[in-house]
Amino acid sequence: MSGLQGKRILFGITGSIAAYKAAQWIRELVKEEALVTVVMTAAAERFVTPLTFAALSGNAVHRDMFDESPDRVMAHINLAREADALLIAPATAQTMARIAGGMADNLLSAIALAARIPVVLCPAMNSAMLAHPATQSNINRLRQFGHHLVQSGCGALACGETGDGRLPEWDAVRERLLGLFQINDLQGKKVLITAGPTREPLDPVRFLSNRSSGKMGFALARAARRRGAEVTLVAGPVTLVDPPEVEVIRTTTAEAMAAAVLERAPSMDVIIKSAAVADFRPTACQPQKIKKTQQGLSLDLIKNRDILAELGKRRLPGQLLVGFAAESQNHVAEGQRKLREKNLDLIVVNDILGQQTGFDVETNQVTLIDRKASQTLPLLTKEATADRIWDKVLLLCGESPVHDE
Ligand code: CTP
Repeated sequence: MSGLQGKRILFGITGSIAAYKAAQWIRELVKEEALVTVVMTAAAERFVTPLTFAALSGNAVHRDMFDESPDRVMAHINLAREADALLIAPATAQTMARIAGGMADNLLSAIALAARIPVVLCPAMNSAMLAHPATQSNINRLRQFGHHLVQSGCGALACGETGDGRLPEWDAVRERLLGLFQINDLQGKKVLITAGPTREPLDPVRFLSNRSSGKMGFALARAARRRGAEVTLVAGPVTLVDPPEVEVIRTTTAEAMAAAVLERAPSMDVIIKSAAVADFRPTACQPQKIKKTQQGLSLDLIKNRDILAELGKRRLPGQLLVGFAAESQNHVAEGQRKLREKNLDLIVVNDILGQQTGFDVETNQVTLIDRKASQTLPLLTKEATADRIWDKVLLLCGESPVHDE
């Protein structure tokens, strides 16, 4: 189940060329079973017709403050009252100025003024308009009101210039929406997560690695950010996109990952090591490509540092340390051994031979083992598993996870 399922999103669309992107976002929301109602400004209608948004949302589009039909007379009050969040995308400089100034001269700005629900704005405009002190002061004012501003993107703009002011990516907006519906029970915590495999080079074209996709670690990073944590993600070579609002450090070898983690570890409250670190590396990386001149080839390998065991030795008072154990047999016994030997608070054990729990799948079934007990979770998506792991971390920190169902 998506965290957006059943959420009532009032979607305000204003007059920017980026208005066409709202169509795709509405499709994404509807796919996740959110309930979308669209409000358009007159300028937005110059770019895309209301019919498009009515068809995609499955609901009538609201446009007029002074609609006489009985169910729409108080639209500016009722629409905000009946929604869980107001999302304004694209948000033009004009609409932001209106809302920052407390004006109510069209239906959308009147709704924003009347809204007691979270308001999320996604600015989209030319870079000079965005950089103008008037726009910047309006953005600050909107933040002071408690509204959520999603950072605009940098790149090619419709006006032909390149710079800040692109409508943010849907991924960043989706994360912000999901964050609205979660309690910030990790706020104030600095957390470090590792994810993915490492690559140990043999020669300029070959390496030793493993099948880890990094999905579990990336899900942990997204979940922690949504719950308010300050998140650093140290990733091995994976193809996943950076989670929004997370500091991502890309590494390749086990040594590089060790350096990145150990340097940052002292300032962290919680460290979760979900990376599948290579245990061995070639004694030397050959400077030239190895040729197949011989019948067989033996590799000389040496052991890599165990990053987690090192963290267990250096661990500071109050710091919480979580390991992962990918096992093919004796899961619980192996988990308990690693928990003890690496001086951990919690270890997350999963079965790498299971069809829905192995590498590169969207689901996982894990057993959580702490120093007192173990608990096997049901088969869940990696997103849901991540939240259950954070719940457990909070309990081990002596705090209760907060759910708002
Ligand atoms: N780990 C690590 N550095 C290594 C090897 C493992 O930090 N060089 C961490 C992993 O990130 C994981 C935990 O140790 O959190 C357990 O990893 P796993 O591969 O299951 O166990 P190993 O200790 O490597 O033992 P074995 O491979 O013999 O099962």
